[in-house]
Amino acid sequence: MPDQAAIGVFDSGVGGLSVLREIRARLPAESLLYVADSGHVPYGEKSPDFIRERSQRIAEFLLARGAKALVLACNTATVAAVADLRARYPQLPIVGMEPAVKPAAAATRSGVVGVLATTGTLRSAKFAALLDRFAGDVRVITQPCPGLVERIEAGDLDGPATRRLLAGYVEPLLAEGCDTLILGCTHYPFLRPLLAQMVPSSVSLIDTGAAVARQVQRLLEVSDRLADGSPAPCRFWSSGDPLAMQEILPVLWGESATVDRFPD
Ligand code: SIN
Repeated sequence: MPDQAAIGVFDSGVGGLSVLREIRARLPAESLLYVADSGHVPYGEKSPDFIRERSQRIAEFLLARGAKALVLACNTATVAAVADLRARYPQLPIVGMEPAVKPAAAATRSGVVGVLATTGTLRSAKFAALLDRFAGDVRVITQPCPGLVERIEAGDLDGPATRRLLAGYVEPLLAEGCDTLILGCTHYPFLRPLLAQMVPSSVSLIDTGAAVARQVQRLLEVSDRLADGSPAPCRFWSSGDPLAMQEILPVLWGESATVDRFPD
């Protein structure tokens, strides 16, 4: 039977909108609830305990609004909190992110892959396990990217400061022979146009937004909880400055919408 309840999605900030766009494109009949924890962004340098506490708080908020599934549209929140949320809500479909090591290892021709992600993601046991499982003979070079999330939160996707910061992270990876770059943070897909100017066209850029949308569809299908009908609405909250998010929504989400204050 169709289930018209919403899918709850959250991130440390606006980066998860890159995942929300994929979910909307794949599942247009689903109502979506999105929380940007921009009052506490970036998560990348925060403690796992802090991120778990925030994730729990936001999950409760989304479930109180009837969410039938949760998507942690944040790599750093996934490594810190997805296991805890799954233990708390065993019946609920919960989908998290993971850096695309498997497809990147399959795609590389040079045998060298670069991973752009936060320190929290790269230091995690989950990421180490992913490398053990899928990297095989491929050389994987990791690159933490402090400061990049803040540029994107400020809506600066291609200004001089963002360009300089990104070049400083990407150029050493190219110099090592990487022909495949994993965008291991949901903010980074918004830098694809800028990255495309910086890397040779032979370099592939890989993220997992579309794979996560497919996984959400699969989980709702098996539990018979997909919505049907005409395109459904999306509601937004921010724990930071709702007006600032409202201003960049047309760029990052593709249309205007009201953003409400997340009640901290
Ligand atoms: C951050 O808040 O530092 C980035 C979130 C992510 O890892 O996707």
